[in-house]
Amino acid sequence: MEATGGTVLNVCSVLLFFFLTEVSSEYIHIPTLVHHGIEGKSLLLSVETHFSMDEVEIQGTWSHTRPSGTRATLVTFTKESSITDMMYRNHLLFREPNVSLLIRKLNPDDEGDYTLDLNIEFHNKTGLVIKEKRTVHVSVDVPVSSPVIEKSPSSAVIEDKANVTLSCSVERGTRVVFQWLRDNIALGPNDRYHFSQDNSTLFISPVRKQDKGMYRCVASNPVSPDRHSRGVELNVYYGPYNLEVDSVQSLRIGEVFTINPGELVFFECRADSNPPNSYVWISTSRNSTQVITEGPRLEVRFYRLAQAEEYLCRAFNNVTQKQDEARITLVVASFGPGKEKHIQDSGSVSPLAAITVCSLFVIGCMLLFFLRRTCHPKRVLMSIYNRPLSEQKRPHRSGHEDATEDFGIYEFVSIPGKMESAQASCRSLARLESVQDMHTTIYDVIRHVPETPSHSLLK
Ligand SMILES: *[C@@H]1O[C@H](CO)[C@@H](O)[C@H](O)[C@H]1NC(C)=O
Ligand SMILES: *[C@@H]1O[C@H](CO)[C@@H](O)[C@H](O)[C@H]1NC(C)=O
Ligand SMILES: *[C@@H]1O[C@H](CO)[C@@H](O)[C@H](O)[C@H]1NC(C)=O
Ligand SMILES: *[C@@H]1O[C@H](CO)[C@@H](O)[C@H](O)[C@H]1NC(C)=O
Ligand SMILES: *[C@@H]1O[C@H](CO)[C@@H](O)[C@H](O)[C@H]1NC(C)=O
Ligand SMILES: *[C@@H]1O[C@H](CO)[C@@H](O)[C@H](O)[C@H]1NC(C)=O
Repeated sequence: MEATGGTVLNVCSVLLFFFLTEVSSEYIHIPTLVHHGIEGKSLLLSVETHFSMDEVEIQGTWSHTRPSGTRATLVTFTKESSITDMMYRNHLLFREPNVSLLIRKLNPDDEGDYTLDLNIEFHNKTGLVIKEKRTVHVSVDVPVSSPVIEKSPSSAVIEDKANVTLSCSVERGTRVVFQWLRDNIALGPNDRYHFSQDNSTLFISPVRKQDKGMYRCVASNPVSPDRHSRGVELNVYYGPYNLEVDSVQSLRIGEVFTINPGELVFFECRADSNPPNSYVWISTSRNSTQVITEGPRLEVRFYRLAQAEEYLCRAFNNVTQKQDEARITLVVASFGPGKEKHIQDSGSVSPLAAITVCSLFVIGCMLLFFLRRTCHPKRVLMSIYNRPLSEQKRPHRSGHEDATEDFGIYEFVSIPGKMESAQASCRSLARLESVQDMHTTIYDVIRHVPETPSHSLLK
């Protein structure tokens, strides 16, 4: 029952509210209840009356309540006459019967609430005085001048070692709101971005690679649209990051690159860094360390089959004083037709070379195996058949007897349901053989990859 009573009461009050507002909005209307005035400009507190002055008597006041609470009556008026407070005589303009009030040359003291109290009596309804009351809020602001941005330190900074302070200031403007943009994206506070109370200062501590960019500040207030400062570039020295070695002419499995004998192969070393890295290529084979070339590119050509070389690419950023290294192993492992000479050459070093290749390949496979194990704790069988050398030089597709004397047959057996990448690697081995028409096998053969053409080689 109580709930129903409450609801009814609510409905009643809502209806009453609508009724009252409708009734009152019938006679006067104020288009703007909040004014953002500009200092020095005039401001009209406009009032629309929805009746004809011929059929009514009116009487009213405009009063001003300062933000401090001080209240003053500015104008008292009827249809025929008005009295303006002497203090405001030159500051205000009121022309009865027009109820609107004009404030000339706004100054900060003019801020506050302006209240219109209006009594209306219709001639055909003498004795009934309708009371109207409206309040208009006025703020007075100085437009914002162009913001000026400053960066400290002004020079480029080193990642993780420096802090950067960006500050923004305006010569003129009240109630200024500051905002920060990097490459036109608004910035908010985070664990490295600290803003001052009024957002006029941005403190970045410590600075990182991703802070690189063009900074601007934006200043605005209620009477000024967004005003952008000029852009200031923040340059951050960083890196090297993501060092990578790449080569198009060779087959890659992890760090092991397999190249054709006699072919000129380029290796490209790349790392992300500012300023650009300097690169050196270092040979680390045969227990010696030797710089072979400076610059990101290494060019090699090997004739010997079964040659294994180790290289190191070192990228160094001379500003951050940081460096990174990538190790690669080169295996000369396959040959195309018309390279018989080199095959014969290699015959003289064959047993040792074969062992080297074997070892390297085993290491490669072990690496793969290990990777697979870490991802999927399942077994991978890998076995290597090292065959006795054959006298025959000319390779044939048909079987073991035709394989090059130098090398064994590598059998890489992967159990179904293993990590995709391992199978993919083995598959690409097989593909290499078929692409290069490598009838002889140095490494073969993947079981469980039925589409592999070299599968038959195992038989
Ligand atoms: C009242 O005065 C203002 C300016 O003084 C004017 O813009 C407005 O049209 C006037 N209203 C009427 C009803 O005359
Ligand atoms: C009084 O006059 C106004 C305007 O002419 C009219 O809208 C209103 O209905 C009249 N009121 C009465 C009680 O006659
Ligand atoms: C950077 O600011 C942190 C505090 O945020 C301070 O501990 C550090 O010393 C400052 N580093 C430099 C280089 O000014
Ligand atoms: C400062 O900027 C943040 C957004 O980056 C905003 O949420 C906050 O209100 C601003 N403070 C001031 C005082 O303008
Ligand atoms: C840093 O290395 C660049 C080339 O990568 C070179 O131009 C610059 O002079 C070096 N600066 C110093 C201080 O060694
Ligand atoms: C290889 O290098 C290690 C350490 O650098 C050294 O102890 C060893 O004697 C070297 N072996 C040869 C054969 O030079």
